[in-house]
Amino acid sequence: MKSYELLLEYNKKWAADKTIHDPTFFQQLKDVQTPEFLWIGCSDSRVPPNEITQTKPGEIFIHRNVANLVINTDVNVLSVLDYAVNHLKIKHVIVCGHYGCGGVKAALTNNDFKYVLNMWLRNIKDIHRIHRNELDSITDEEAKVDRLVELNVQEQVLNLAKSSIIQRAWKEDKRPDLHGWVYGLKNGVINPVFEMKAGTHIDPIYEFENL
Ligand code: CO
Repeated sequence: MKSYELLLEYNKKWAADKTIHDPTFFQQLKDVQTPEFLWIGCSDSRVPPNEITQTKPGEIFIHRNVANLVINTDVNVLSVLDYAVNHLKIKHVIVCGHYGCGGVKAALTNNDFKYVLNMWLRNIKDIHRIHRNELDSITDEEAKVDRLVELNVQEQVLNLAKSSIIQRAWKEDKRPDLHGWVYGLKNGVINPVFEMKAGTHIDPIYEFENL
């Protein structure tokens, strides 16, 4: 059996097991999803959101990309955010990075990763520039990567707060709260590193009037 065929076999077994334990499981999820959380995480295969938070299908709306970035021209992440905030009415947005992130490590090098990856990683280099004083004071390379992982999560939460999608929801509905978390590959534990409650003020240059 080919490796991908095994996935289909496991899926059949999973669906059957679910139905045995709860005959209404799929029926309940079929017509409606009311997740309370939007998760913006890294695509890394070692950080599966539902598994590490012990949540079930229907509980978390998920977007993942390399190094969990919120780029203000990325139609993909903004569409997910718009739908989650304005249609699903989610209460919390969680940006979850992870220590030892390959994307963050790559951004700390001077390697040419060609075309699209250079464009993507440039955003992380900008965060390094903003926080250069602190990062330059860290001599251990692994510690430096891990601190930039934390700062990246913090900056992505700020990027969410800079968006009119979030600012409008804060004004009209006093939600969602924004959370910056970092998952530890070594111990499986999530470290909350940054939080912005709905309505928090940011640098005034980013705050929209007449929302
Ligand atoms: Co990563």
